[in-house]
Amino acid sequence: MTLDFLGTLQRTHKCGDLRSELAGQPVVLMGWVNRRRDHGNLIFLDLRDRTGITQIVLDKEASPVAHAKAEQARPEYVVAVKGTVRKRDAGLENPNMATGEIEVVAAELLLLNESKTPPFSPAEDAIANEEVRLKYRYLDLRRAEMQKNIEVRHRVALAIRQYLSGEGFMEIETPYMTRSTPEGARDYLVPSRVHAGSFYALPQSPQIFKQILMISGCDRYFQIARCFRDEDLRADRQPEFTQIDLEMSFPQMDDVFRTVEGFLNAAFLAAGQGLTAPFPRMTYDEAIRLYGIDKPDMRLPAMVELTSTFSAELRETLKIEAALPVVGFVIPSVGTMSGTQKRALVDEIRTNLGSSGGAGGLDFLDTARLRTNEAFVPLADAIAAAMQPESADDLMVVITPKLGTPAKWNGDAMWIHKKVGLLRLELAKKFADKHKRFEKKNAAEDYKFLWVTDFPFFEWDETTKTWTFAHHPFTSPHEDDLMSGRLTSDPGAVRALAYDIVLNGTELGSGSIRIHRQDVQSEIFRALGMSDEEAKERFGFFLDALEYGTPPHGGIALGLDRIAMILAGAPSLREVIAFPKTAKAIDLMVDAPTPVSDIQLRDLHIRTVARS
Ligand code: AMO
Repeated sequence: MTLDFLGTLQRTHKCGDLRSELAGQPVVLMGWVNRRRDHGNLIFLDLRDRTGITQIVLDKEASPVAHAKAEQARPEYVVAVKGTVRKRDAGLENPNMATGEIEVVAAELLLLNESKTPPFSPAEDAIANEEVRLKYRYLDLRRAEMQKNIEVRHRVALAIRQYLSGEGFMEIETPYMTRSTPEGARDYLVPSRVHAGSFYALPQSPQIFKQILMISGCDRYFQIARCFRDEDLRADRQPEFTQIDLEMSFPQMDDVFRTVEGFLNAAFLAAGQGLTAPFPRMTYDEAIRLYGIDKPDMRLPAMVELTSTFSAELRETLKIEAALPVVGFVIPSVGTMSGTQKRALVDEIRTNLGSSGGAGGLDFLDTARLRTNEAFVPLADAIAAAMQPESADDLMVVITPKLGTPAKWNGDAMWIHKKVGLLRLELAKKFADKHKRFEKKNAAEDYKFLWVTDFPFFEWDETTKTWTFAHHPFTSPHEDDLMSGRLTSDPGAVRALAYDIVLNGTELGSGSIRIHRQDVQSEIFRALGMSDEEAKERFGFFLDALEYGTPPHGGIALGLDRIAMILAGAPSLREVIAFPKTAKAIDLMVDAPTPVSDIQLRDLHIRTVARS
């Protein structure tokens, strides 16, 4: 086939621009053949570019040369069309297309490039195999849905940049080749050629640099920053991802909250969505008590503590463990389920969660059966009164059977609440299509934001039998907890000045007010079991910097990918990242990672060994 040259031809409009007001106007469009329909003397090409699709008509009698070329055109060929906009005849309009009232009658058609038959058609809505999509990402990105996702992401990032700049934040880049930052994941390392045996670490976050920028007097910093973490991946985690990272000098927690609410409002508006600010707040303890998790999905009703509803006598009759709490929750909109149905569901969830997450030792009360025995009707009434189900809702009341396997407490008073919280979430997922609360109305009420505050400072690590930091080691403990000496006397009770922002059950971001005094920072390192030598070795430069007039400061980082994912209504981060990696951290398009040549390895002073 002979291809045409573009010559001096200039595009006048985009494929999504044309409306009936432009009827009669000459236009030049360029793009890809989305579909081609051949009716003999008339050929229709749907021409596609980023903005949309326009129908092109090629009439054999009026433009025989252009028509002959259109006979050769195939899906994904790149063409230019010179023609005139025409209003479609009555009855032939397509209300499903933005340009459905018009078509372009072609006078000339240029075939600018051909295309092999693609492994899947970017014109189709349903594309099954994700591996194929990722391998041919350039074709996948041509799909209207992906173009929309990428655009939403761009608009969100731009709105955030503009908002933060308007609030006096400066965007400052921090290094990619640096040393380890403790965010709880493994580092990606970059070997140094010049310094044999030494490695840079790619940043897990710009945490230390942004704190140093506060010491440097920058006052307000932000960065749309790439971060790198070698950790187990799942739908909302990528090995490289993007944070909206910020830090402020002399802030109260409220200042950070207001800033985040402000930029999220701007971002959501830019994506054509609304939200309601300020967002509600809840302490970590409340979140666990009411939702069993530190990132509650506020679209679902909270759990209800039913312990006091069960007298000692009732517990005895129903064989419920005397000392343990009874917690229930509403399963919205599922109708009344029989005990057998519930049993099957609970068993299925237990199997899915596996032994570690499973609710071993816990059981549920067959609430449907309670009412069949007159003696238990008052109990059923009391449960219903406490839980207030709507007419189509069912109830789950979780108990610990007296004769069952004793529940494993691990000294965690909230153990049962956490397990019940998991069950509640799994059931919500199971019945997601029935939940009225999950129906998307494209309104502010679709987005239930929440601030979770007062996280515990330490977490107990069962494997190492030591206290480790819950957020990161630069987070400030509550001032009262510092003064009371709890750091050493009762580490588990120390609260952090740390906060998370949660949206519909997803953690969007985390932050804290930081430690700004060197003596306190050293004490925290010690409380984390780090010797002074080790602290000096790992963070000496930072401890030094803290000694030169560090202002009180604090900040936060939100996952841009996660925000874009929720706004795009996408099931995974891969839908909103142009070139993402698979769950095994592979880029299927460029085929990375790959082995490298012996010469490169030698230059880097590295020898690889075969893993058995
Ligand atoms: P944190 O580690 O909680 O905090 O990260 C902040 C936010 O970054 C996003 N995020 C991720 N997104 C995609 N893939 C990942 N692997 C991934 N890991 C984290 C999440 C998360 O809430 N330096 C601190 C912030 C601070 O204290 O200011 C930090 O990085 O949305």
